[in-house]
Amino acid sequence: MEALIGVLPGDGIGGEVIAEAVGALDAVAALGGHRFEFRHGLIGGAAIDATGRAFPEDTRQLSREADAVLLGAVGGPKWSDPDASERPEQGLLDLRAAMGVYANVRPVRTHPALFDASPLKAERLEGVDLVVVRELTGGIYFGEKHRAVDRASDLCSYERSEIERLLRTGGRMAMERRRKITSVDKANVLETSRLWRRVADGLLPAEFPDVVLEHLLVDAAAMHLLSRPRDFDVIVTENMFGDILTDEASMLVGSLGMLPSASLNDRGGGLYEPIHGSAPDIAGLGVANPCGTILSAAMLLRHSLGLDAEARRVETAVYRVLESGVRTRDLATPGTPAATTRQMGEAIRHQIAAAR
Ligand code: IPM
Ligand code: MG
Repeated sequence: MEALIGVLPGDGIGGEVIAEAVGALDAVAALGGHRFEFRHGLIGGAAIDATGRAFPEDTRQLSREADAVLLGAVGGPKWSDPDASERPEQGLLDLRAAMGVYANVRPVRTHPALFDASPLKAERLEGVDLVVVRELTGGIYFGEKHRAVDRASDLCSYERSEIERLLRTGGRMAMERRRKITSVDKANVLETSRLWRRVADGLLPAEFPDVVLEHLLVDAAAMHLLSRPRDFDVIVTENMFGDILTDEASMLVGSLGMLPSASLNDRGGGLYEPIHGSAPDIAGLGVANPCGTILSAAMLLRHSLGLDAEARRVETAVYRVLESGVRTRDLATPGTPAATTRQMGEAIRHQIAAAR
């Protein structure tokens, strides 16, 4: 098949991890006779430096034309002045809004090869396979903002329709998995959460009668994610809770650098990015873990291009390489030699080709 893939490296380690994910997609293309055209664009701080805008018009255009968009990360100390008029992160939020990608799917699957990299005991990690479906284009991220010298506010608001479509994505995913949904909110305090819970109670049992629904308050969910992670199947939650819980959940897998994500709209379009940030502290050193981005590329193959076998081939390659003991610094046992970003990417490309 032919596909146009928008590539937005962004800032910090973004360019380093993106290069390896594009390499993995190239390896897939070489195998199956697919033709992927990669068109690069600017976003975040890099875009501010070049154009003055974090989400330039050219990038908006690219996001419209592309079959899918692969993104690295945005942000960095250079652009984090609290009084700056343009911020890298706003560019990412604008991109998500422009693409209408309201459902951010973040799978968390532990692998025995990485048990030793997690701060949790191996017996807790065995068989953990959950997915967080995070609402991505509403809530406190997008509400009206005000700041004065001594006062600031961020409005959190949700429409019923925004909650409903997110819940439906979660319901469909649960039907293909273990048929359990945990809806996470703060309904003991927040009105948006009380609406969320009411909508969930109305919609999920009616439209997905075979799916077991439970509710958890977000503070308790943060604890249960570590004490009984195996019990979770699909977690549905609002924008900010999903942001926070998935960084926490990455510790089950062993590193923030491991987790991929797919942000989906109703038009089959998608934005694919690792859940980690731009990691300015290690940018340019060639030590970043490219696995989260490579696994995001696998999600792109599956969700936007319908290439499920190819997606699985990439995922299998990543885990084979990890099983063979090749690891970037974030996953390596202290004192043992670690692979560079490039070496990790090369090993995975090699493995993709070898699986022929
Ligand atoms: C993420 C990131 C972003 C978010 C930032 C960079 C705006 O933390 O994708 O999880 O909060 O959504
Ligand atoms: Mg985050």
